Amino acid sequence: MPATVVVGTQWGDEGKGKLTDLLAKDMRLVVRYQGGHNAGHTIVVDGQSFALQLVPSGVLYPHTVPVIGNGVVVDPAVLLAECEMLGSRGIDTSRLVLSGNAHLIMPYHYELDLMTERYLGQNKLGTTKRGIGPAYADKAARIGLRVQDLTDPKIFRQKLDVVLREKNALLSRVYNRLPLDGEAIAERYLGEIAPRIAPMIGDTVALVHEALEAGEQVMLEGAQATFLDVDHGTYPFVTSSNPVAGGACVGAGIGPRDISRVVGIVKAYITRVGSGPFPTEVEGETADYLVDRGHEYGTNTGRRRRPGWLDLVMLRQAVRLNSLSELDITKLDVLSRLETVKVCVAYEADGTVYEHVPYHQSVLHRVSPVYEELPGWQEDLAGATSVDDLPAAARSYVELIAKAAGVPVSFVGVGPGREQYVSFAA
Ligand code: GDP
Ligand code: IMO
Ligand code: MG
Repeated sequence: MPATVVVGTQWGDEGKGKLTDLLAKDMRLVVRYQGGHNAGHTIVVDGQSFALQLVPSGVLYPHTVPVIGNGVVVDPAVLLAECEMLGSRGIDTSRLVLSGNAHLIMPYHYELDLMTERYLGQNKLGTTKRGIGPAYADKAARIGLRVQDLTDPKIFRQKLDVVLREKNALLSRVYNRLPLDGEAIAERYLGEIAPRIAPMIGDTVALVHEALEAGEQVMLEGAQATFLDVDHGTYPFVTSSNPVAGGACVGAGIGPRDISRVVGIVKAYITRVGSGPFPTEVEGETADYLVDRGHEYGTNTGRRRRPGWLDLVMLRQAVRLNSLSELDITKLDVLSRLETVKVCVAYEADGTVYEHVPYHQSVLHRVSPVYEELPGWQEDLAGATSVDDLPAAARSYVELIAKAAGVPVSFVGVGPGREQYVSFAA
C-alpha cells in the first residue's frame, strides 16, 4: 500500500498536526521525515490540547506506530520530556521508534544558532533558536553525531572530542563565549540520556518498507512547509531541511513510487513567523482580527505570527513542488464575519504580471499582490459538519481555491477540534 504525505503549502502552522491526527485513524505508521523541535503541531481532542514538537501526530491512537525518521534532527532530552509529558496525560509512547541515523542536536548547536542570529543583526532570520540550522550544517559537513552514537560511548566521545575542538575555538575566539565542557556533555548524553533513548532506537527504513510490503497504511508527516524549504523556499528566510514532499523520500528512506497521495495543507489565509518576504501580509485592523480569531501565536515560541491574505500564486507553486493530489483547507471558520475576503491571484512588479512565483528573490521582495475581493459570510462555521452547512460565500471561496490550484479539496477545517471538519470528498 503506497504512502501518504502531509505537507504544509505556506510558511508553516497551517494545521498539519490536526490533519495528520485525523488521517492517522486509518494509518499503521506515522513518520516525521524532517525538521526537529522547531515544529509545533497542535491536536485538540475532547477539549484537550496537545502541542507536539518531535513525536509524530499519530501518537494519540493506540493502533499507530509513531516513527522519527532519519531526516529529523533530535534533541534527545526534548524527546524524552515530550514522551514524559504525553505519558503523564495518559498517552502511551512506548511504540515510538527513532531512527539511529537521525542527527543529534548538541548544546553547541543552540549556542551557534543564537550567535549567528546575533551577528546577522537586522538581517536575522528569526529562527526558533533550537539549534536546527547548525545541526543540519554539521550533518552536511559530515561532523554530526547521530542517534546511534549514543549506544557506542567510545565513538560518541571520539566524535565529540574532535568536533568540540572546532566548536569551542569558534565560540570562544569568534563569538567571545565560554567554551563548553566536553566531559559534562558526554556524561549527560551517555549517562542520563542514552539509557532512556536506547530502547527507542530502531531501523526505521526497514520498518517503513515492511509496513508498505504488508499492505499497511503509512503516513509521512511534514514539519515546517514548502516556502520554508531550504531549496525551494524564500531563501535565506527558510529552515535548514526539505519539508517538500520529495524530502519525505529522503527523510524516511523510500522512493517516489512508494508515494501515491500528497495532501497539501492550506490555511484559509496565511501566517508567517520570523523574517522574510510576504507579499500578501496585512497590517492594522484586519491583521488583529486574523491573529485574535485564529489565535495566531507560536505553539512553542509564543511569537505573534504575521498574518496575510491567501496567496494563490504560492499555492500553484506548492502544487508543482509537491505534486499535490489533494488539498485540506484549514481555519475557514476564522474568516467568518469579514465583509469581504481577499485572495491574491497574481503578482505585479515593474509593469510585469506574474502568475507564478518569480524565480529571482529580489523580484519577490518588491511584488505587489493583485487581489480578487470576494463577498464574506457572517455565519459562524464552528458547528458545520457537511458541505450543506457552509454558507454559499464560504463554499465559493473553497471552490475558487480548488479551481486555482487545479487540485480537489478533501477536507475543510472549521475549528481546532478533531471532529471540526467538513468532508468535500465525493
Ligand atoms: P501545524 O504546525 O501545521 O501543525 O499547525 P499549528 O498547530 O502550529 O497551528 C495551527 C493552529 O490552528 C493550532 O492551534 C490548531 O489547533 C488550530 N487549528 C487547526 N485547524 C483549525 C481549524 O480548522 N480552525 C481553527 N479555528 N483552528 C484550527
Ligand atoms: P511547524 O511544523 C512556522 C521558521 C522560523 C524561522 C525559520 C527558521 O509548526 O509548521 P529554524 O529554527 O527552523 O532555523 O527557523 O523557520 N519556522 C517555522 N515557522 N512553523 C514552523 O513549524 C516552523 N519551524 C521553523 O520561525 O523563520
Ligand atoms: Mg506549528
